[in-house]
Amino acid sequence: MGWLGSGLTFSVSCLILVWAADSGSLRVRHPPTCFSDFISTSTCEWRMSGPTNCSAELRLTYQLDFRTSENGTCVPENRESTVCLCNMLMDNVASVDIYQLDLWAGKQQLWTGSFQPSKHVHSL
Ligand SMILES: *[C@@H]1O[C@H](CO)[C@@H](O)[C@H](O)[C@H]1NC(C)=O
Ligand SMILES: *[C@@H]1O[C@H](CO)[C@@H](O)[C@H](O)[C@H]1NC(C)=O
Repeated sequence: MGWLGSGLTFSVSCLILVWAADSGSLRVRHPPTCFSDFISTSTCEWRMSGPTNCSAELRLTYQLDFRTSENGTCVPENRESTVCLCNMLMDNVASVDIYQLDLWAGKQQLWTGSFQPSKHVHSL
């Protein structure tokens, strides 16, 4: 009886694994939290649901509302196997500025949100 039970369990978990890998294994576990030094750089950090090569698989785009020239794309780096970190250059930040942030895995949008640097100043 025992061998039958474990054989069944094995094939079921195999199926689940294949299914999970198929349906886009890249998911955000903790959405980006961002801080600004309020001089030139904002840093965002987020956690993925599994090990991710951040620079190879993900892009974080940022865009200032109403000022299209401020578009930027950030190539994230790994801080841990599941944690990505991005340093975004934001010149001349004003206290009213709000950036729209989008996290992409190729053409798939994983997350979108907004960030107001003046509300998240990280004094160094
Ligand atoms: C991520 O992928 C790039 C390009 O494929 C590779 O050069 C780099 O070593 C990888 N980084 C990690 C942490 O696996
Ligand atoms: C910024 O992004 C918007 C929306 O994606 C696009 O319409 C605009 O052309 C971009 N501007 C620059 C300078 O890349």
